[in-house]
Amino acid sequence: METLLLGRDSLSKAAELLIKDEVVAIPTETVYGLAANALKEDCVRKIYEAKGRPSDNPLIIHISKKEDVYLYAKEVSEKAEKLMDKFWPGPLTLIFKKKDIVPYKTTGGLDTVAIRMPKNEIALEIISKCNFPLAAPSANISGKPSPTSFSHVVFDMEGKISAIVDGGDCNVGVESTVLSAVDDEFILLRPGGVTPKEIEEVVGEIKISQSILNELDEKKEKVISPGMKYKHYAPNGNLYLVSGEEEKVIGFLKEKSKTHKTGIICYDDYSDIKGENVIKIGEKEDLSNQAKKIFSALRKFDNKEIREIYSVYPSSEGIGLAVLNRMLRAAGFNVIELG
Ligand code: TXA
Ligand code: MG
Repeated sequence: METLLLGRDSLSKAAELLIKDEVVAIPTETVYGLAANALKEDCVRKIYEAKGRPSDNPLIIHISKKEDVYLYAKEVSEKAEKLMDKFWPGPLTLIFKKKDIVPYKTTGGLDTVAIRMPKNEIALEIISKCNFPLAAPSANISGKPSPTSFSHVVFDMEGKISAIVDGGDCNVGVESTVLSAVDDEFILLRPGGVTPKEIEEVVGEIKISQSILNELDEKKEKVISPGMKYKHYAPNGNLYLVSGEEEKVIGFLKEKSKTHKTGIICYDDYSDIKGENVIKIGEKEDLSNQAKKIFSALRKFDNKEIREIYSVYPSSEGIGLAVLNRMLRAAGFNVIELG
């Protein structure tokens, strides 16, 4: 398949392809999404095929106006409306009971639907040109790091979908926060661009799913967010997160940086650690910058023959929780404790 590479001046073309039931990758403020008509099973099937994704993993549907939530969701509570008013457009996905118009193919067989309004002019314009919401998982091949720049999407999707729209680099860099709002009970299923503290300031205390920082034991736990059960975000080389006293971590990473075919991910502040396979993800205290850079760092090693990657263990504060959640999955929960 020929994949059209479109600029900001070709948004009508992108919408035209979507209206013809094609799959088009579009930028959002979080990561690029692989978009198609969320209300048609055939379109959703094409997304799963392009991504190579198991089809029980439900998709988020993207809308361009807040009011559209009532077309697809049942029982939207006042508290949920407060969250929409505060964070939409923006990186918060809310889960509601679904209306019949949303096909089970889109929700992975669930009676609930995930909805968000992205904060990206290109995405909003494309959605509003279509007369339907767009289902859009991250535009990476299933299991790989999510794409945060146009070139990432071209690398993964060229030849597999009808078009890719160039919107430059994504502002947030990690995916949206996924929050269940079913039965007016709020449960954080995936940390993301909006932090738990910001949500709690609006609706009071929320529950945090165990699966965020722990490996799921599928036999024991009912999987409420099916996305959490797959190995995710993984680079080609084996990734290890190194935790412990900072001096020890720096010493360990410095030693490893001298090893052949070994990659290092660390903070800008660690000026002693250098080398062609050392990637810096921002200052230790600058968690937003780390979120912006993390997926691109994981992808950079795929272009080289790197067998092992050692990374700092990210902070769990604020948006850091989202970075830590992605890194633990990318590492398959391999953590080296230096004590
Ligand atoms: O920032 C984002 O959310 C990006 C951009 C493109 O919008 N999209 C994204 O989609 O990350 P995806 O498909 O890669 O991740 C969707 C997550 C998965 O963890 C999935 O299990 C969860 O949302 N999810 C979707 N619908 C759900 C539902 N009805 N119940 C529980 N979890 C749901
Ligand atoms: Mg994804």
